[in-house]
Amino acid sequence: MTQIILAIESSCDETACSIVKNGNEILSNIVSSQINVHKKFGGVVPEVASRIHVENISVVIAEAMEQAKVTMDDIDAIAFTQGPGLIGSLHVGVQAAKTLAWMYNKPLIPLHHIIGHIYANGFVDELTFPLLALVVSGGHTELVFMKDEWSFDILGTTQDDAIGEAYDKVARVLGLPYPGGPAIDKLAKEGNKHYVLPTPKTEKELDFSFSGLKSAVLQLIQREEKKDEEINKADLAYCFQETALDTLVGKTCKAVELMHPKQVVLAGGVAANSRLREKMIEAMAKYSDVHLTIPPLWCCTDNAAMIGAAGNTAFKHKFFGSLDCSANPCKEMNI
Ligand code: KG4
Ligand code: ZN
Repeated sequence: MTQIILAIESSCDETACSIVKNGNEILSNIVSSQINVHKKFGGVVPEVASRIHVENISVVIAEAMEQAKVTMDDIDAIAFTQGPGLIGSLHVGVQAAKTLAWMYNKPLIPLHHIIGHIYANGFVDELTFPLLALVVSGGHTELVFMKDEWSFDILGTTQDDAIGEAYDKVARVLGLPYPGGPAIDKLAKEGNKHYVLPTPKTEKELDFSFSGLKSAVLQLIQREEKKDEEINKADLAYCFQETALDTLVGKTCKAVELMHPKQVVLAGGVAANSRLREKMIEAMAKYSDVHLTIPPLWCCTDNAAMIGAAGNTAFKHKFFGSLDCSANPCKEMNI
């Protein structure tokens, strides 16, 4: 049976709507990014983000339907990001989804943003279970183990900053533009191993921590400034990136050895990082029975197609919400 899902994503600074058929056929995928507005402030300003979502949401939904050449009669369910994310931003998408569900009498599917990021891999590869996902975004750093298609166990998480947040903060102290991840990715290509930064340590083997590394970068800059020495920004970007990514890849290897997944996937905005992709390919080559999937750039950062893909599986599992559900900025993954 054909199933068409209208999916909405508005958890941070992208207003997005996508029409997805049978979980992996994208009929349309509209993303309206606010990056150019937030750039001026050096980061996402939550209040500004919610206001822009309000201005854009109806236009984005109308455009997604027009491009997909569908009417509301063709839609089987409305999937949306319920959380985590910025409360004001989430609220706009949630209200739009609930309004459509109420007006057209469609089932509602409230989803966890990160489950969407993991399911984005389904657009480029079949997902095979057990599966291990390294989730790396602006708000998350997690190793998620899925023994089957609708079960999520968090093996490790960050104790402080998320990896994308660390990239953005380090970029800011280096005087690079927002978002910092792509800027560091680019600059690090011209850098060399010149500075020594501490390897992040955590109590639990599969947890992450990036705030110490971020502070070490800041202290190094302050020390050099005091000595009137000029910082080599490319070298510092390189050293920060190598240290941070080696932790991510090292812990993914440990999780593979512990859990023996059939497939490893990358998920989230930081999965767009060119050096992380290289390092993961090299590291996973050691495990001949593990298949690595790296999502293409377009589905690493926030979009609604990924919510449509996850929504398709959620539908199969009858994971529906009611009209009284609301945005949940601290939504947990265990369902
Ligand atoms: O998944 P995403 O679009 O939004 C969240 O769910 O957070 O991720 C955004 C994060 C930002 O911190 C951004 O700096 C980072 O992804 N990012 C990158 C790269 N592209 C985006 N980090 C490192 N290298 C990149 N090429
Ligand atoms: Zn995201």
